[in-house]
Amino acid sequence: MGQGCCTSRSVVEPVSQNQNASVNSITNQPNAPGPLAVTTGVSTHQPAAAGGEDKDFIPIRTTAKPIVFFVLGGPGSGKGTLCANLVKKQKFVHFSAGDLLREVAKEDSEDSKLVNSYISQGKIVPVRITISLIENAMRAKGWEKCRYLIDGFPRNLDNYQGWNEVIGDKADLKGIIFITCTEETMMKRILKRGETSGRVDDNVDTAKKRFVTYNSETFPIIEAKRKENPDSVFEVSAENSPDQVYAECMKKIAHHL
Ligand code: ADP
Ligand code: C5P
Ligand code: MG
Repeated sequence: MGQGCCTSRSVVEPVSQNQNASVNSITNQPNAPGPLAVTTGVSTHQPAAAGGEDKDFIPIRTTAKPIVFFVLGGPGSGKGTLCANLVKKQKFVHFSAGDLLREVAKEDSEDSKLVNSYISQGKIVPVRITISLIENAMRAKGWEKCRYLIDGFPRNLDNYQGWNEVIGDKADLKGIIFITCTEETMMKRILKRGETSGRVDDNVDTAKKRFVTYNSETFPIIEAKRKENPDSVFEVSAENSPDQVYAECMKKIAHHL
């Protein structure tokens, strides 16, 4: 699972002249999008330049609610890889629903058996389990103090309803980062990852089932959201290199940070 946050935030103060001095090559704006930026005792919150971090870092703003992006795309499309870059370069906090569920699967509990059986069949685990994992993970990281990537969620209507019931207005959901590539590319990536991942679902048979689940349950959610509000779906091609995928993604979401 990706990391990178903020365990505490001590002060909120005006952006310094120094921070304003640089221009963000993604947004073409001074390197602070609003009048306020967060300063913190935790180094991961500091703007880029000084410590050799990304020059295009957009400082994290204080908001009443946590900023959230869902990250969706087919199995093996590269969601985790994109999220890792966003964590590294923009200090997002990243939770992969799949990773959280795989942790549960390792336990010795009733839930773990159920989760294991869903994952092995490429099916979507009931949201009561997944949403509490996500909410607990966000609360443990500081809630409104961070900006979050929720990767591999919502995977179906049940997931989406669970989000609305449990979190809904408590978060500032900016939309869905939707990464796309062909099934051929996804299959190649899954099988390559399967050489070392140890995942029970990184094999041809389960991958095919996951494609079916994606096409029948996940893609319709994305399409419904796009129909409702086209500006809330940030589509990015995942066929290119990870750096290009990151750059294209940032062009689409920078104005929401
Ligand atoms: P997902 O989280 O969507 O299942 P991952 O990020 O785990 O996908 O990526 C699946 C595999 O494909 C990994 O082995 C990863 O290194 C590789 N990969 C991801 N993005 C790219 C890319 N843009 N180009 C080439 N390989 C990639
Ligand atoms: O996103 P990832 O590929 O890691 O998901 C692996 C599996 O975890 C899915 O195929 C599914 O069985 C399960 N999952 C789920 N609900 C989610 C995310 C993942 O049931 N929201
Ligand atoms: Mg993943």
